[in-house]
Amino acid sequence: MQQHLMRRKRICEQHLQTLGGITSALGEKDSYTRAHGHRVALYAVRLARRLGLPAEDIRNIGIGGWFHDVGKLALSDHILTNREAHLSGELRQEVRCHPLIGAALLKHIDFLGPAVDFVLFHHERKDGSGYPFGLKDGEIPPGAKIVSIADCFDAVTTDRPYQKGQSIASAFKILRDGCRRCFCEAYVEVFIEEIEENGIIRNTGPASLLVDQLVRSAAGYPDM
Ligand SMILES: [Fe+2]
Repeated sequence: MQQHLMRRKRICEQHLQTLGGITSALGEKDSYTRAHGHRVALYAVRLARRLGLPAEDIRNIGIGGWFHDVGKLALSDHILTNREAHLSGELRQEVRCHPLIGAALLKHIDFLGPAVDFVLFHHERKDGSGYPFGLKDGEIPPGAKIVSIADCFDAVTTDRPYQKGQSIASAFKILRDGCRRCFCEAYVEVFIEEIEENGIIRNTGPASLLVDQLVRSAAGYPDM
């Protein structure tokens, strides 16, 4: 392997291992969100790869997916342990701050680059109904659109404390129905193709495996 690739691989590994510590802290409060972050990272990377994006973009999208909900670290314990599907207005407002908090936590780490924006904008929706800024379609970075599709799919297909996971067919319907107001239609169709061909993620393995996969992607390895 060329020397610059080895150096780059080492630096990526060190940064990602450090950041993995942040999600471990979140996992202490909320184990669902930690595992959800791993799966969203892998789904987002699969979609980005299938869209033919460059390795650097794929890595940033994977990191954005991994840390998209890291701002939930700052939420009250009674929100994270909530068993109700619907939160009161006040609690909902608190939850809606998590992209801002997550981006504030990560923005000083140069290495993350545009991944911070993917954290900040992962709840923006193309008709302007999302949060925290109500951005419209053309204002939302493609990486954030990719993370939001991966986020929705994993949220629908997995068991959460307050709801059972739904079938893959239901998740596809939710994504397709969401194209009118929320999601990029072209990305949704490519994502569905990817899931139909390669299946859903059942187990992500330890965080170190995810770090390895993201580093491989950044370094241009073919096998991710
Ligand atoms: Fe979120």
